[in-house]
Amino acid sequence: MRLRNALTTMMSLAVAARQSTAQTICAQIAASIGWTSVFPSFTPQYTTDILHWLESSTQLSECSVRPNTVEKVATVLALLGKTNTPFAVKGGGHTSNPGFSSTTGVQISLEKFAGVDYDQNAGTVTIGASLVWDEVYGELQPHGVTVLGGRFPSVGVSGLLLGGGYSWKANAFGLGSDSVVAWEVAFPNGTAATVTDANDPDLAFALRGGGNNFGIVTNFVMKAYPQTNVWGGILVVTQDNWDAVLSATETFSSTVTDPKAQIFVIFGSAGLVVTNVPVSFVTLSYDAPEQPEGIFDQFLAIDALIKDISSRSLLSLVQTGLAANYGAFTRGSWDTIPTPSYDRTFMNALVNQTVFWSDKLTSSGSILVGTAIEPFLPSILASGTTETAAYPYTREQVYFPTLLAMYWLPTSIDQTMIAARNSSVDTLKSVLEIETQGAAPGVPYSNYAASTTTVEQLYGSNLARLRQIKKRVDPNNVMGLAGGFKILPA
Ligand SMILES: Cc1cc2nc3c(=O)[nH]c(=O)nc-3n(C[C@H](O)[C@H](O)[C@H](O)COP(=O)(O)OP(=O)(O)OC[C@H]3O[C@@H](n4cnc5c(N)ncnc54)[C@H](O)[C@@H]3O)c2cc1C
Ligand SMILES: *[C@@H]1O[C@H](CO)[C@@H](O)[C@H](O)[C@H]1NC(C)=O
Ligand SMILES: *[C@@H]1O[C@H](CO)[C@@H](O)[C@H](O)[C@H]1NC(C)=O
Ligand SMILES: *[C@@H]1O[C@H](CO)[C@@H](O)[C@H](O)[C@H]1NC(C)=O
Repeated sequence: MRLRNALTTMMSLAVAARQSTAQTICAQIAASIGWTSVFPSFTPQYTTDILHWLESSTQLSECSVRPNTVEKVATVLALLGKTNTPFAVKGGGHTSNPGFSSTTGVQISLEKFAGVDYDQNAGTVTIGASLVWDEVYGELQPHGVTVLGGRFPSVGVSGLLLGGGYSWKANAFGLGSDSVVAWEVAFPNGTAATVTDANDPDLAFALRGGGNNFGIVTNFVMKAYPQTNVWGGILVVTQDNWDAVLSATETFSSTVTDPKAQIFVIFGSAGLVVTNVPVSFVTLSYDAPEQPEGIFDQFLAIDALIKDISSRSLLSLVQTGLAANYGAFTRGSWDTIPTPSYDRTFMNALVNQTVFWSDKLTSSGSILVGTAIEPFLPSILASGTTETAAYPYTREQVYFPTLLAMYWLPTSIDQTMIAARNSSVDTLKSVLEIETQGAAPGVPYSNYAASTTTVEQLYGSNLARLRQIKKRVDPNNVMGLAGGFKILPA
């Protein structure tokens, strides 16, 4: 192992040295932060650094860089700005939008920021930007605490917190981004600082939903919450019992007010070459060790193919969601339909879209069409205000982040699949429009939204303030060299 590492380093040095004669940006970065922090193509580090959850979100960069301090991240950022070099910064690499955390320029890896530090006195946890949530939950488990992070295995800490963050505790404590108390940030001007609500309320607001527009975050400090065992797990239900799933979901979302209770209901149709296998995955979660009375009875009565429900650790609950990774390493595309409430008409339309497009596209190479229903309580919005967080731009009404995801294999059907996704989203939005009599379209969740969603749609009445903050922090739009939903300086 040691020998392999030494060989890899020597190889990288040789390649970087060769490139340095041409003064490539990678060589410039190497000269500035150290040769051992820059990795050319085909090194194992490079391969890891450019890897994404979806194959369609991976691009070949010129090199990857692994700065090991926030100051060095800032140095790299300033250099990229000065040389006008396209770059990307990746957390867990789970975005479904190509170019959002990938690039043909310089890939910044946050690999060196990987600590989980629980401060019992402060009641906070400092979390490195490269981590994924299952790692964080695992580290915190012995301390009997947790933080408000992702609900499924392998999702990145960084992207989730910079966009919002729906956790299994959302009904009780709100959005993950609202529970961040400090951000260690590398700024586009080459400096670094720790941002808090007290020392920079504007930037704290911008970092709660504003994505990668304001700098690179290397560490997040989050509030810690006590964590006992939870009760819950997963039901896998075949199509003949989907009616029962829909009824139970309708009952749950219209009657349950206990903030400890949550569900996540996936309808998926997996394309297996010529045939489709429609399966629903229902995750039940109750934030206490014992099964609550009544709340989940209708779900538990469903004739499920697999029923894995028990009192277990939070990490174990998260791991039951492995099916959410079915599409991993394929090509894929996501979008979201901001949904004011889940009634039967809308849910029927959602199910119909899932099966309709899978039926239509499997023979062309579609491998999964999936939709997800995520009902929350209005209490998820009580943890912040439109003054303290860029997302969501209104808290007067909660919009559920209904998800539509498509996964496929051949590159040749990219446009076909995206057009199908568009059509499906349009159909579902028109169902909602009829129901709400044309009322406001709602706030899309940027972490699920398609790349063509505009910043006007995402940030609404918060956009003007975000542009002012952008003007102060990144007047030359250095972060615009990285892909994403781009907020321009005012
Ligand atoms: C299987 C699966 C399960 C999911 N479950 C949940 C869930 O339970 N709750 C939820 O809210 N969302 C969930 N999501 C959505 C998730 O929030 C987004 O995919 C999010 O982008 C993931 O963050 P990441 O770090 O992995 O992404 P990345 O692709 O690495 O990054 C996403 C964006 O953030 C930027 N970025 C990343 N790190 C930094 C940084 N340190 N500084 C500045 N900018 C940065 C990137 O440049 C990019 O624009 C899930 C997604 C998947 C695929
Ligand atoms: C299902 O969706 C398709 C495609 O949008 C549509 O043509 C069809 O009418 C829908 N069926 C039902 C029952 O809603
Ligand atoms: C999908 O919709 C978006 C936004 O309406 C549009 O910009 C894009 O071109 C559409 N893509 C396809 C392939 O239809
Ligand atoms: C760099 O930007 C940060 C964030 O906007 C700011 O606080 C700092 O004063 C700037 N420093 C310099 C030297 O411009």
